[in-house]
Amino acid sequence: MLKPCLSTSIMMVCCAVSASAGTVRLEELDIAGIRQGWGTATSKKTVINRPLTLAGTVYENGLGTHAPGAIRLSLDGRSRRFRALVGVDDETGGKGSVRFKAYADERLVYDSGLIKGGQPPEEMDLNLAGVRSLVLVMSSGPDGMNYDHADWADAVFLYSGEPPKIVKIPPEEKVILTPPPPDSPRINGPTVYGVRPGRPFLYRIPCTGRRPIRFAVEGLPDGLTLNAETGIIRGTIEAPSPKTYQTYLEAENPHGKARREFKILVSDTIALTPPMGWNSWYIHYHSVTGKDMREAAHAMIDSGMADYGYQYINIDDGWMKKRGDEPYRSASGAALPNANFPDMEGMVREIHGLGLKAGLYTSPGPWTCGGYVGAWQHEAAEVDQYVKWGIDFVKYDWCSYGGVATGKGIERFQKPYRLMGNLLAKAPRDIVFNLCQYGMGDVWTWGREVGGNSARTTGDLGVQSWTDLPGFYSIGLQNAEHAAYAGPGYWNDPDYILIGWIGVGYGTEKKRPTSLTGNEQYAYMSMWCLMAAPLIFSGDMRKLDLFTLNILCNNEVIDVDQDPRGKQARIVRRDADSLVMAKPMVDGSLAVGLFNLAEFDRPVSVSWKELGIRGPFRVRDIWRQKELGTAEDTYSENIGWHGAKLIRMWKTTR
Ligand code: GLA
Repeated sequence: MLKPCLSTSIMMVCCAVSASAGTVRLEELDIAGIRQGWGTATSKKTVINRPLTLAGTVYENGLGTHAPGAIRLSLDGRSRRFRALVGVDDETGGKGSVRFKAYADERLVYDSGLIKGGQPPEEMDLNLAGVRSLVLVMSSGPDGMNYDHADWADAVFLYSGEPPKIVKIPPEEKVILTPPPPDSPRINGPTVYGVRPGRPFLYRIPCTGRRPIRFAVEGLPDGLTLNAETGIIRGTIEAPSPKTYQTYLEAENPHGKARREFKILVSDTIALTPPMGWNSWYIHYHSVTGKDMREAAHAMIDSGMADYGYQYINIDDGWMKKRGDEPYRSASGAALPNANFPDMEGMVREIHGLGLKAGLYTSPGPWTCGGYVGAWQHEAAEVDQYVKWGIDFVKYDWCSYGGVATGKGIERFQKPYRLMGNLLAKAPRDIVFNLCQYGMGDVWTWGREVGGNSARTTGDLGVQSWTDLPGFYSIGLQNAEHAAYAGPGYWNDPDYILIGWIGVGYGTEKKRPTSLTGNEQYAYMSMWCLMAAPLIFSGDMRKLDLFTLNILCNNEVIDVDQDPRGKQARIVRRDADSLVMAKPMVDGSLAVGLFNLAEFDRPVSVSWKELGIRGPFRVRDIWRQKELGTAEDTYSENIGWHGAKLIRMWKTTR
């Protein structure tokens, strides 16, 4: 059934469209400016280009969108009314759920409630007299964004004079907040470092400032040597364990001198602070090559990222032979690298030569997620091979293991990780162990016990995208729930930092810049650092722009992540429009993140009562690295939409 006009009540409006200059359909505006989590807004058709159909009725006119998303309009007080029928298109077969909202001059004036697939549409009828800006929001329901085909049928504006205009996301300049490092040396990165006795030690002192810089270490343990020109420390500590070495790193150039505490803890625990580095997944997917890895390592040095503590260069899926490409294994039983990795040992040597570390990915199942050879029944041979290559980090997925898993209940989940964890702990080198099974069986409660140094708590950030907010917010909020389990040696992993240039997806070489706004990127990094998350960038190392580097390389922000106390921030408050997180730091200060979850700039505040503190506090804006003065009992700040403010607060006297 084709129905050009919905009902007698709206007939007047929609049938007047062609006749009067005072009406315009939503789809006739510049819909290219609409921002949504999946696909593109489509005129007169659904988001997948089919006839707009709501509860059995086909509509000739309207707009097909996908939640989550927002349509921002400038009306300048000239629109009088907007009417539309909103709902989830029948093409989803009853799946999906969307909530439609409208904000007139930042005030909520319409809320459809949750509309499920197959339900009859709701009528949105807005009186817009005097309204200057209108934001139409499509929110995904609690079931996530899949199938949220959000239709606006017979959507018409009534206006006088100028028609309404769709505005692109507010032109928000990507402002660089991180001050450039001084010419004089500044030592960055962690102040504590764990190593097992008798295992090779490798650490490149992260230090900004004009090269050449001369390095020194006070209290360097026996067995270690420092290269004073490169700042790379190598060797082996054979001390009885546990033992703590109180050392001081020093750096000097003609502009000045720096000194920083660096405790070396010799014990069975490694990853005393969250691992920092780069992973190939979201930029190279399965087409990753050894050349990409070598280039990434050099870019980590040349871009300055290594001077802030980034050190791991990790290959994700795709380095082994693919199913069908036999032989799969060497005589020892270890997976053979494919033609893209002709010299694994040489590659690792090159990475180590720069003072960086090398990591790789595999799965406990017979096959990895991408259909490459996994470690199933060859675990010991795999670890021996990794040791021979000099691997420092193993990411262990779950893919295809489900088909061979044995054991009941939680043991079913734990078994493959316990097996690999034991092998890695016994290996004659320190290998950071990253579990990647998306949080199954509440992995955060037992990941440490099976030998893990970190464990992914959710599905993939890159594909899981948005609910009401960009994907990092929804993933971050889930990860934030498990604060109690993180600490030195074991970290909750909410997936990679997906900014800069990223790959469009597997099967294509196409790349694109992140769609996150500048404010969202500040919020992303602030949240990851508050959560003491592993800081693993997974964008293009060859296309690092200044804005991306300013997000990744702010020493005071990284200090929050790398704080030796190792606490993960707790959620102080979460409501529809704001989020506050606080992380207690080793020196008694608090790192606090204020997040604006709304579609508009607005103030977000936190009271000392909520933070459980009293008295005056000195407040520092750590992105800008600027003192903000003293606050008595509350802190409030106007924050850009979806953005954040990250502060550090020290108790002070009046
Ligand atoms: C899973 C993981 C990702 C990535 C891919 C590789 O989806 O969660 O991080 O490693 O496998 O195939």
